Amino acid sequence: MEAIIKADRLSKDYKIYKDHKGYLGALRNLFDRRFTLVHAVNDVSFRIYPGELIGYIGPNGAGKSTTIKMLTGLLVPTSGEVQVNEFIPWKDRKDYVKHIGAVFGQRTTLWWDLPVRDSLELLKHIYEIPSDRFKQNLDSFRAILELDAFMDTPVRSLSLGQRMRADLCAALLHDPKLIFLDEPTIGLDVVAKQRVREFIQFINAKRGTTILLTTHDTADIAKLCKRIMIIDHGKILYDGEFDELIKYYGGSRVLSVEFAEFYQDPTIDQAKIIQRDGVNVIYSFKREDISASKLIHQLSEKYRIRDLEVQDQAIEDVIRDIYENQLLYN
Ligand SMILES: Nc1ncnc2c1ncn2[C@@H]1O[C@H](COP(=O)(O)OP(=O)(O)OP(=O)(O)O)[C@@H](O)[C@H]1O
Ligand SMILES: [Mg+2]
Repeated sequence: MEAIIKADRLSKDYKIYKDHKGYLGALRNLFDRRFTLVHAVNDVSFRIYPGELIGYIGPNGAGKSTTIKMLTGLLVPTSGEVQVNEFIPWKDRKDYVKHIGAVFGQRTTLWWDLPVRDSLELLKHIYEIPSDRFKQNLDSFRAILELDAFMDTPVRSLSLGQRMRADLCAALLHDPKLIFLDEPTIGLDVVAKQRVREFIQFINAKRGTTILLTTHDTADIAKLCKRIMIIDHGKILYDGEFDELIKYYGGSRVLSVEFAEFYQDPTIDQAKIIQRDGVNVIYSFKREDISASKLIHQLSEKYRIRDLEVQDQAIEDVIRDIYENQLLYN
């Protein structure tokens, strides 16, 4: 299959100017401006294929939004190449935007003073969406995103969750084959988050829309994305299946046991006691060393157990480990 997005050795540097101080400094600034370079995106290459729903994650300042701005044609790369379908985003921007959709959770793409309904109407004209198609899409999105309660409210008066849903609708009215979602669940309550997730899933599954999703919410990733790319300091740390990553790094599991009586030394092979309080003992073990059922079986042969619980290491902890230790997997 041909890739829908091809990014090759993509880099973006920002120049941060440092002014000379004082009166003479202001004069010097005119002809001698000092700056430092921030390598926001540093030699990044990847392929994205039609129909994929990819999580693009990384800590604050990693370079996610900068990448998305280059992919949507808002920024020109310092070096490297991007091709999306037949387009080079920043060169063909005017035609290109008709084929993609984008939601930036941090700011709206709608008209601040217009009611949602009018904002969407305006997009119909800008994107030249045929009337029947527009109506079909709007009816469908209104129902799923529950827009009806605020269709006549000016965008500036919307709550964050309402605004995000309106933005999502706006990004998809023209049936783009590809959408970029930069933190579409930021600041949303659990119910709104769930609604947005279901919408993303619906669009991907039912329409085959290719989606690149940026989020700090690991639950978004776990629920939605088969493949993820992790970026930090402008470099891709990982590009592969989410499940593989969790299997590889998230090996540590926890077994909490309440024994029926007190045991002096309830040790067991292949598991480590990490906490102990009377009859309550917590073991840590590795998925690749022993299965939970085998461990429980061994324990129950030696000791009398009243209750137990197995927990996987939280996905958040796995991701945090990777960020903190800069683990490189590829
Ligand atoms: N317009 C700009 N001028 C100078 N530096 C910038 C600019 N935009 C971003 N940067 C810097 O580039 C780096 C990458 O920023 P970017 O916004 O791409 O990160 P991000 O991964 O989206 O982070 P977050 O999760 O916080 O949204 C950061 O160090 C940031 O300070
Ligand atoms: Mg960002």
